Amino acid sequence: MNMIKPEKVKDKAESLDSVYTWSTGVSTNNRLVKASTEELLAEKDGRMTKGMLSLYDTWGASGVGMILTGNMFVSQEGKSRNGNLVIFRDDQGLAEQSELAKRIQAHGAKGIVQINHAGRQAMAHTGFQPIAPSAVPLEGYGSIFQAPRAATEDELEQVIDDFVESAVFLEKAGFAGVEIHAAHGYLLSQFLSPLLNLREDRWGGPLENRASLLLQIVDRVKDAVSETFLVGVKLNSADFQRGGFGEDDSLQVIEWLSEREIDFLEISGGNYESPAMMGSESTQKREAYFLSFAERVRAVSSVTLIVTGGFRSSSFMDDCIRDGECDLIGIARPMIVEPDLPKRLLESRETVALQARDRLGIKTLDNMLQTFWYKRHIASIAQTGQSLGPRASRVWALLTEIPKVLWG
Ligand SMILES: Cc1cc2nc3c(=O)[nH]c(=O)nc-3n(C[C@H](O)[C@H](O)[C@H](O)COP(=O)(O)O)c2cc1C
Repeated sequence: MNMIKPEKVKDKAESLDSVYTWSTGVSTNNRLVKASTEELLAEKDGRMTKGMLSLYDTWGASGVGMILTGNMFVSQEGKSRNGNLVIFRDDQGLAEQSELAKRIQAHGAKGIVQINHAGRQAMAHTGFQPIAPSAVPLEGYGSIFQAPRAATEDELEQVIDDFVESAVFLEKAGFAGVEIHAAHGYLLSQFLSPLLNLREDRWGGPLENRASLLLQIVDRVKDAVSETFLVGVKLNSADFQRGGFGEDDSLQVIEWLSEREIDFLEISGGNYESPAMMGSESTQKREAYFLSFAERVRAVSSVTLIVTGGFRSSSFMDDCIRDGECDLIGIARPMIVEPDLPKRLLESRETVALQARDRLGIKTLDNMLQTFWYKRHIASIAQTGQSLGPRASRVWALLTEIPKVLWG
């Protein structure tokens, strides 16, 4: 693979608290990024709520340099569950999204919306039969998710249009950029997977075809927005499934994305069936579990790199930036438990995020339970500006969240 020429202008002294500047002149105040966490604060129909705005008042004031919103959906039929925000491209939507952009960026953070289509990872309570590359149902969740059907050619063209229109609309609303979600087993990630994409047309077969939905979206979004509007991609290093999308495939896709001069790449891994994004014994060799893959990315591309997953201590984060292992550091769960953590991370060289007791040790239950538990905290920040703290009840999280999963 060819080394892609550097696009970014680096500051001389690189540390967690140093500015990061792109070649277009856009910059972030420091290297900390609030990684996406689904808020589940929207109205049932996907509209914005006051809670959503209040949540981002708190995170916006945290001192973090860049904020990636939780995934927002490019269409109503493409959402993952009720409570997800849908990007309504109408006057009301523009007023609401403009207000959100303002709140997120009130203290200087760059606000980036993560744009997504759930594909088969859509809960049955949404009432829509999901589209996917092929009719391969999700395993291990009983009837919570509905079996998908293979998308038609017209539907895929509509998906591309929805991503492009959403990006253009969000630029108009005042956001600094978008992150196209191609990780964690959602639609674009499903297309990349040889296990889930069994198509025999131009969207299936060799990796080049499987990547073409993502690459066409990137090309068309970049053509449609201005040069200073950041366009990033979240991509799996691997799906962590035998025979699935693996590291070598991912490196090839990264090379194609780098040729397109995306503004940033965030690496993660896994999906609902294999939730490696939350860390697992096989991935948790260092504090941040995708760093060994980041080293492979650095060898083939000089794209601005965000690594997310497992970062907890300021000294470790600072070392990673100083050593050039990545350009920006994503933190998700620590900012849910301690919404003001970034200030301490940036001021001190010794701060360690509070460790939440978020595992029971039963793999399938743990994934759901963790998500429930963190969502209770997000709801609390939205209501009171405070999280529930690391000792909040897990049983209560289970009791309150299960009905929402089943019935929306
Ligand atoms: C409650 C919750 C919601 C999440 N929602 C999203 C999401 O909307 N989009 C996404 O890309 N990742 C999502 N993630 C994954 C995080 O962005 C991140 O990759 C993961 O939590 C690992 O980072 P951490 O160790 O800093 O928490 C979510 C994680 C949690 C805990």
